[in-house]
Amino acid sequence: MASVTGYVRRARPTHLRQFKELLRIPSVSTDSRHAGDVRRAAEWVRRRLKSAGCTKSELHETPKHPIVYGEWLGAPGAPTMLVYGHYDVQPVDPLELWSTPPFEPVVRDGKIFARGASDNKGQFLAHVNALEAHLQSHGGCPVNLKFLIEGEEEIGSPNLDAFIARNRKRLACDVAVVSDSAMFAKGLPAICYGLRGLAYLEVQVRGTDRDLHSGSFGGAVINPANALVSLLASLKDNRGRVAVPGFYERVRRLRPAERKAFARLPHSDTRYKRSIGAPELYGEAGYTTLERIWTRPTLDINGIWGGFTGEGAKTVIPAEAHAKISMRLVPDQTPKEIARKVRAHFRKTVPRSVRISVRELHGGAAWVTSTDQPALRAAERALERAFGRKPVLVREGGSIPIVADLDRRLKVPMVLMGLGLNDDNLHAPDEKMELDNFYRGIAASAFLMEELAVVRR
Ligand code: BES
Ligand code: MN
Repeated sequence: MASVTGYVRRARPTHLRQFKELLRIPSVSTDSRHAGDVRRAAEWVRRRLKSAGCTKSELHETPKHPIVYGEWLGAPGAPTMLVYGHYDVQPVDPLELWSTPPFEPVVRDGKIFARGASDNKGQFLAHVNALEAHLQSHGGCPVNLKFLIEGEEEIGSPNLDAFIARNRKRLACDVAVVSDSAMFAKGLPAICYGLRGLAYLEVQVRGTDRDLHSGSFGGAVINPANALVSLLASLKDNRGRVAVPGFYERVRRLRPAERKAFARLPHSDTRYKRSIGAPELYGEAGYTTLERIWTRPTLDINGIWGGFTGEGAKTVIPAEAHAKISMRLVPDQTPKEIARKVRAHFRKTVPRSVRISVRELHGGAAWVTSTDQPALRAAERALERAFGRKPVLVREGGSIPIVADLDRRLKVPMVLMGLGLNDDNLHAPDEKMELDNFYRGIAASAFLMEELAVVRR
């Protein structure tokens, strides 16, 4: 089957051209002004699944953005591999920090720059291109394929779980593959067996019914901005631990074997800190950096606003103040339980002189799976063949909310093989993907299809 790699090589210019075409569509799922673009991206993906060789490729409507489903089932008796990915992207702001416009992809120094390049357009396209490579080079694919590509991942996949529940038969498979994470480092592929979950809240604190002159009224009423920052400060202690009562109640203890495995990975705090321009690292005492990111829950203020932020000075007591906070969760915490605990803490702590309201934005459960599965061994062999190096086993700090749902509903092994890098600038200006990872990723996926075909389940 050497011809598959030959095809992947010859098809590079075409695959790159198609990749750029998709990157030009600004499929920002959170922004209703882009709803038409999100749909155009869905249509593009549907057509691409068709042109890659899928015999079925369809859009499924949801209350918001369409789900794209495609399949090629021409290998009766062979296992079925389901690929999950997302065609939606994060907003681009701050726009002025981009070196080139976010939806005008350009290749510089072997990297393609555009919003969505790594997260997640390039990564899921690798699998689509791999199916095409098999079909074009020898007329068939060693496994059956199903593609589930959604347009709402970046807003917490509000409609996908219901779709999966309704379409269990359609989505039935032997293994699910997701490429929406990172390699451990350039040249060092990784298989991810754990993701953190997420609970995202928006908090509003309200004092008086209007803004007040801070001289005439200062001292007589509480300042909601002051009240908010005290409240937020009470969420963590000064050693990096979350102070919400019961927050750690259901957190699993780290297994010694896992700690040992993490310690063997080629990570250096010095290099890490330099790579992000941090004067010093900071986190929960008693854990290494990788342990903190991969296995410990955290709480962060993602945004905070209120009062006067314009030029110069304005003496005002604002009527209200706001913050967005999120918690990264680990097994066995749940978004509901954590939101409830934070609410209870606020209720107890908030002074009577303000009113507080808390809104739950999206959330998702954490996920961790066994590293002892034949499908993971198959992925290791595939990645080693494509990248020339045996992959390491990692967990990730990021969240892909639907992974836990897919696992629970489909009850099949989940293979997370990330083709991105930690410096791909996900959600930030100058997002990029290394073309080397894109092309090797196509080969890795093609090899994975071969390896899965011969795996004994
Ligand atoms: N691809 C990322 C998740 C990710 C990033 C996994 C890096 C592993 C390493 C995904 O698209 C994402 O950004 N998820 C969001 C959650 C979502 C509900 C907004 C996240 O993690 O913040
Ligand atoms: Mn993302």
